[in-house]
Amino acid sequence: MQKKSPISICLFPAAGYGTRFLPATKAMPKEMLPVLTKPLIQYGVEEAMSAGMNTMAIVTGRGKRAIEDHFDVSYELEHQIQGTAKEKQLADIRHLIDKCTFSYTRQIEMKGLGHAILTGETLIGNQPFSVILADDLCVNDEEGVLSQMVALYKTYQCSIVAIEEIDPSQTDKYGVIAGDEIEPGIYRVSTMVEKPSPEDAPSNLAIIGRYILTPDIFEILRHTKPGKGGEIQITDALMEQAREGKVIAYTFRGKRYDCGSVDGYVKATVELYEKDKQNLKS
Ligand code: G1P
Repeated sequence: MQKKSPISICLFPAAGYGTRFLPATKAMPKEMLPVLTKPLIQYGVEEAMSAGMNTMAIVTGRGKRAIEDHFDVSYELEHQIQGTAKEKQLADIRHLIDKCTFSYTRQIEMKGLGHAILTGETLIGNQPFSVILADDLCVNDEEGVLSQMVALYKTYQCSIVAIEEIDPSQTDKYGVIAGDEIEPGIYRVSTMVEKPSPEDAPSNLAIIGRYILTPDIFEILRHTKPGKGGEIQITDALMEQAREGKVIAYTFRGKRYDCGSVDGYVKATVELYEKDKQNLKS
């Protein structure tokens, strides 16, 4: 069901190599790894759509053509299975293709998440937008994480990051925030640091792969210097907005699987299978 949203466009940075899944990702984009019968990026597109967005802007790179083909018709295949029981297995993806517009641009060099988001400017223009990192697979029975964030955007009208509490030993895998808790689980961010060591971390509240960003972020990204790992970090650009009190961190309702790691991917597969096995169309 489409809802009217103040945010109509979702950006998917999808140019990364997915080295943790080699050799599976040698010739296949990591965003196309399936959890049950759906590729990771399709879960993301469905989440964005249920948050009222109908334009999907995808930043791709070399070797990512399978993503474009996935969100397109496949005449030969569809002709072959027409009228058979298998046809219904394509119903969900057909619905997405009917309802959404997909646009693409390529990131030529991998210079970090901030750089990937800046590359997407050409597809976004001057409007607030959401970002989904497809390898963070988020599930929640009543309301998707992005829908929850859109509701919050209506109140705060500024950039929003989704956060969760992590084991303090894991801070060097995430952007980590600190701030004032202005409502239960909602913080006005005062500090954010990309992948700090546990000793340097300002808290154990980690950013996960869901963002709502105001378009001034592009101008900030244009002058953001390379940070952690020599890459242009969205966390550093957001820190500039945070200095003016313009970033909210939101403890989302639901569960997130880190499908960028083999552990998280297997966990997602097992748990979603347990939940959905009755509905799996065979
Ligand atoms: C990126 C961000 C990081 C964030 C994470 C969430 O890191 O740079 O701040 O916590 O996504 O998944 P990556 O996982 O791409 O290294």
